[in-house]
Amino acid sequence: MEGLKLDGTERISVDYVQGILQPTPTCDIWDQIWNFQAEPDDLLISTYPKAGTTWTQEIVDLIHNEGDIKKSQRAPTHERFPFIEWIIPSLGSGLEQAKAMPRPRILKTHLPIQLLPPSFLEKNCKIIYVARNPKDNMVSYYHFHRMNKALPAPGTWEEYFENFLAGKVCWGSWHDHVKGWWKAKDQHRILYLFYEDMKKNPKHEIQKLAGFIGKNLDDKLLEKIAHHTSFDVMKQNSMANYSSIPKEIMNHSISPFMRKGAVGDWKNHFTVAQNERFDEDYKKKMADTSLTFHFQF
Ligand code: A3P
Repeated sequence: MEGLKLDGTERISVDYVQGILQPTPTCDIWDQIWNFQAEPDDLLISTYPKAGTTWTQEIVDLIHNEGDIKKSQRAPTHERFPFIEWIIPSLGSGLEQAKAMPRPRILKTHLPIQLLPPSFLEKNCKIIYVARNPKDNMVSYYHFHRMNKALPAPGTWEEYFENFLAGKVCWGSWHDHVKGWWKAKDQHRILYLFYEDMKKNPKHEIQKLAGFIGKNLDDKLLEKIAHHTSFDVMKQNSMANYSSIPKEIMNHSISPFMRKGAVGDWKNHFTVAQNERFDEDYKKKMADTSLTFHFQF
């Protein structure tokens, strides 16, 4: 594969894998990704992009390390948790990182369930899935596109809004993603969490995560993990806020990675007409699922 230049002058290109938009470097090595060999003790964190991946990664890491902050700050997020389908030839590849990592590994993916390498389910790996209400998810993704050259340019907000509804964004349709994983949770070891619940009652969701991982947290440890994974503390943590990525790729002065961390920010972006259009479309696309979301507190 040719080296892709990401020197701040260009953006990544995209292509399709089975109808799902992906950065071209991912498409180029798709067979290797599909054939990825999971280990039974792998823990996978799966999300639609911008649903709270980094937050969940930080919580899980601190649970694993029994609240040892130094250990959780051993390396930036993207080095601690291989992102299996991710590759920027000049920077590295999630597959190679995963292969080089000692077990037990904690891995990350944004793949929709139908594109998940089959070995994860065959080996009965534990999987944590986090979903976020689509209005806030869309707004967060839009701003992430603006600041991140490893994604295509988002166009105007109006254009992005339409592309998101049509599923013409990387990792595909939000609706299909959350529904597909929701269905899968009944047959596999999947803990399905919601960003809004994590915001509303972080300690409760952290306990749920600990229980799923098989760890006990006393009140003091729970308090400590909740504190270190709060938005304000994580925003200042250079090992969790993506500030270590070269600014030619992620430019936090356009929009910081740790942007708002709120529920309901979509109200500052959606016009009344967009909101009506969104709700109508949502009703149709979500008619065949029991899955529900909170759009505000
Ligand atoms: P916003 O852009 O709405 O602020 P991901 O990690 O999946 O890319 O998701 C990023 C989103 O999660 C961003 O949302 C980011 O601010 C938010 N986030 C990250 N850490 C958080 C935390 N500790 N509490 C709340 N939100 C957090």
